Amino acid sequence: MADNTPHDPHVRRMDEILNEPVLDHEYDGIEELDNPLPGWWLMTFYGAIAFAVVYFTVHSIIGDNRLAERDYQQQWAAIEAQQAEQLAAQKAGLDPEALAAEVVSMAAAGKPIYDSRCAACHGGAGEGLIGPNLTDDSWIHGDGTAVPVYEVIRDGVNANGMPPWGALLSEDELKQVTGYVLSLQGSNPPNAKAPQGNKVN
Ligand code: HEC
Repeated sequence: MADNTPHDPHVRRMDEILNEPVLDHEYDGIEELDNPLPGWWLMTFYGAIAFAVVYFTVHSIIGDNRLAERDYQQQWAAIEAQQAEQLAAQKAGLDPEALAAEVVSMAAAGKPIYDSRCAACHGGAGEGLIGPNLTDDSWIHGDGTAVPVYEVIRDGVNANGMPPWGALLSEDELKQVTGYVLSLQGSNPPNAKAPQGNKVN
């Protein structure tokens, strides 16, 4: 519909200000200017479309269209390798010879731990009290080498009154006190409790 309202000479129309054509539709006196989208905007728009076509062609038609799956498999393989490494390291941590050497070198640091945590049951010198004598060569659990001694300290023997220390002591502290216990071997303290378990030497 054409604009029938008399033109107020004091009000300037937008199309006159911008000098742009008006489209030929009009609703309730509202008209629309015909101003095109800015060139730079159209460039990015068409550029994005062109890029999508090229990208799709290169990656999904010409190239390897299973990139995501390959990435997934590579990452998964890396995780598995890492897990295997950790498992090996864990086992290596309890490698009998390595552990024996390690705990011996840490034994001195184990004395204060022993005095505060273990002496009440095993005696100040390891001579045995409620718990067995730790200075003789008879062992209830294992053969008195580093691995079984470390394990019994870490896991305890709940049923027989030996508490598990794995949650209370750090790995290093467990090794230190293991080393200290092993250092008591053959020390012949006074008032030693009679041997228990199997004589190993
Ligand atoms: C509450 C008392 C108690 C405390 C505390 C205690 N133990 Fe024991 N421990 C025992 C008893 C009881 C046994 C014997 C378990 C059995 O007969 O199976 C034992 C067994 C052991 C053994 C195995 C001995 C063997 O002949 O095989 C070791 C090693 C040991 N304790 C070390 C320690 C260390 C190290 C600590 C401190 C970090 C500690 N214990 C603290 C009561 C205790």
